[in-house]
Amino acid sequence: MTRILVLNGPNLNRLGSRQPEVYGSGTLDDLKRILQEDAPEGVEIDLRQSNYEGQLVEWIHEAADAGTPVILNAGALTHYSYALRDAIALLHEPGVPLIEVHISNVHAREEFRHTSVISAVSTGVIAGFGFDSYRLALVQLTGFSGR
Ligand code: DQA
Repeated sequence: MTRILVLNGPNLNRLGSRQPEVYGSGTLDDLKRILQEDAPEGVEIDLRQSNYEGQLVEWIHEAADAGTPVILNAGALTHYSYALRDAIALLHEPGVPLIEVHISNVHAREEFRHTSVISAVSTGVIAGFGFDSYRLALVQLTGFSGR
């Protein structure tokens, strides 16, 4: 069984009720179901969420040690967390991919959201496609083009 870690940062536990005009009405449980349905046979989606930077750092360490590919929506930490950036850089040596995703098109929003301190150390970036941002990242990580 191959595992893919889908990590979600601060405030993403509020998906469904948080600014639905920006983030849609789907919840994290909906996202988990959609990704598990998309995933090819034998791929397990391990979706987690934390409001704490240190917890996300430790999960990325776990991915580095286990060689588990990561899809990361770091929420607002994207814009300023050097701790997260340093953790992501630890994935380079073992060659573990991490794709940065965003539900909204951060570049079309407030100026502070235009900066990502994690993009330069991420394998790739997908933003602006709602939950499809995660689905596209999953396609990339599994090489499986869908239903
Ligand atoms: C987000 C965009 C961030 O700017 C914001 O802080 C989030 C969600 C997105 O998925 O669009 O929490 O990462």
